[in-house]
Amino acid sequence: MIEGDPRRIDGVSALSVLRRGLAASPELRVGAGQTVLMAMSVAGGKLLVPLLIQAVMDLSITADGIRLGRAAVLCSSTVVLVVGSIFLGKVTYFRLVQTAENVLLGLRVRTFEHIHKLSLAEHSSSRKGVLTARVTSDVETLTQFAQWGAVAWVIDSVQIVTVLIIMVVYSWQLTLVVLLLHLPLLPIFRWMQARQLMAYEELRTRVSDTMGVVSESIHGVEVIRVHGHREPMRRRVHQSIDAQFDQQMVAARYFSLVLPLSDLFGVTAIATVIGAGVWWGEAWGVSSGQLVAFIFLCNLLVTPITSLGEVLDQTQTALAGWWKILDVLDTKVDLVDPSTPVPLPTGALGVRVEGVEFCYRTGGLVLQGIDIDLSAGASVAVVGETGSGKTTFARLLTRLADPTSGQVLVGGVNLRDVSPASRRRSIRMVPQDGFLFDTSVIDNIRYGRAGASEENAVAAIEALGLTDWVGGLVDGIHTRVGERGEGLSVGERQLVALARAHLADPGLLVLDEATSAVDPETETTLERAMERLAAGRTTVSVAHRLSTAERSDLVLVFDNGRIVESGPHTQLVDQGGIYAGLHASWLGGTRQMF
Ligand SMILES: Nc1ncnc2c1ncn2[C@@H]1O[C@H](COP(=O)(O)OP(=O)(O)OP(=O)(O)O)[C@@H](O)[C@H]1O
Ligand SMILES: [Mg+2]
Repeated sequence: MIEGDPRRIDGVSALSVLRRGLAASPELRVGAGQTVLMAMSVAGGKLLVPLLIQAVMDLSITADGIRLGRAAVLCSSTVVLVVGSIFLGKVTYFRLVQTAENVLLGLRVRTFEHIHKLSLAEHSSSRKGVLTARVTSDVETLTQFAQWGAVAWVIDSVQIVTVLIIMVVYSWQLTLVVLLLHLPLLPIFRWMQARQLMAYEELRTRVSDTMGVVSESIHGVEVIRVHGHREPMRRRVHQSIDAQFDQQMVAARYFSLVLPLSDLFGVTAIATVIGAGVWWGEAWGVSSGQLVAFIFLCNLLVTPITSLGEVLDQTQTALAGWWKILDVLDTKVDLVDPSTPVPLPTGALGVRVEGVEFCYRTGGLVLQGIDIDLSAGASVAVVGETGSGKTTFARLLTRLADPTSGQVLVGGVNLRDVSPASRRRSIRMVPQDGFLFDTSVIDNIRYGRAGASEENAVAAIEALGLTDWVGGLVDGIHTRVGERGEGLSVGERQLVALARAHLADPGLLVLDEATSAVDPETETTLERAMERLAAGRTTVSVAHRLSTAERSDLVLVFDNGRIVESGPHTQLVDQGGIYAGLHASWLGGTRQMF
């Protein structure tokens, strides 16, 4: 049993996962009736041989001898029907796999889109690994199931029902004997199924833990080497793999019971049918042909039951994975698009922040009592100690998250009412970590505006005075930047991000300066590019270099989530408060970043 999350104890039942899953995947209902009909014909095809044996024994072998002509007609028509059912089987299999793949595609896309709609408040770094596992390894469990397990469920259950119907037609008494013998299997399978599902649910958690640790050890390779942290890291990876292995063994323990159990019950059923048929057959009106056919039917009943026992294991893994995915889909989207969207005005945009508070999913208030009014076209610098809430403030201005209370108005419109397309066009953020995609410099810049050409991107490079810098790169504008842009320095990544923002031509620009030091040459290029980019727009710059603050019209000083000082640079320096202290230490540190 899993500790710490009561929902896991009450909530996991195969039926509830199925119900939620069916609601979340409308593709499952497309053509389902037709598919079941086809599966029924396939199962019917398997029943032809025992039916033929019965017919030949009872109709062709008579007291007057063997009627070969009748037997030949029966056999050849059965051959035709069996060939037809094999063909139908092929078509059914393709239909089922096609439906399953469509369901998976829909589920993956919806989960992916849902993750992207979630507020940044949901995306803490620890959740990133888990969310990745949801769209990769968890969907993978469903894929494996869809390729065989789901198909087996449809064909086998149809076969069980059809066989039972024919059995009843032959002899309801013998059918009752078979059913009574199989009855104890039901509670045993149910008990096993519930425990196996729990075991697999825990296994999915351990798989995402392992993925998180392995991905951290790969991304953190530099830190691990520099600090000689290899042994402890290796231990952590081993521990999580061991934990996953142990859990896999727990789940396997239940599965190991399935085959012997269904074999035992199957063999007992056949033996009992033979005994009861020979003993009471005549009294129950069962002919010898019907008895032989019935024994074959018993075998046809045991085979799908054993096969279902086998796929039960795969089914449980898939259900656990499905449940985890549905949990992501059930996470409420806080950032709701407006029902009557309002476009932002063109040109520079004023900003008014009224009584804003904010907290992430975990932890307390990160911003509180924020009230400011920034006029259109102003250049504003936001400064403060690390962790004081500057980046969070920048995120609220770009609606990466909504304030917990209060409101943000841009161009006189509440951000919650602004049409998403207009917001993306008119408000741009250059993020602190300068995330780039693993492609060329020019392609990364083109992401700035949908449909932007290479010429547009080159024009943006020129407008910001970055032509020389790009010319100095190994392959010029076609230099590949590596995963997350790690082939470039932090300062260079920001240069690309600035050109990208220029392409969008926004009315409000939010710049989150990189915290790490930048060499003097790149710094000069950066400052010049920022100045050119800021012209004619409202700019809010989270400033780690106070030279940015010196050039601004207004400086906002953040401390522990509040704005504690605000005013022009010179006024704040004269005031002798926190800003004056920061400025003095910056000057003392020969204008190093703080
Ligand atoms: N995604 C997140 N989930 C939970 N807490 C977060 C998240 N991002 C930031 N925080 C917390 O919010 C607070 C403010 O963080 P923020 O990144 O806004 O600070 P900052 O002023 O930009 O710092 P820095 O100067 O180091 O960039 C910190 O205490 C931080 O731990
Ligand atoms: Mg920050």
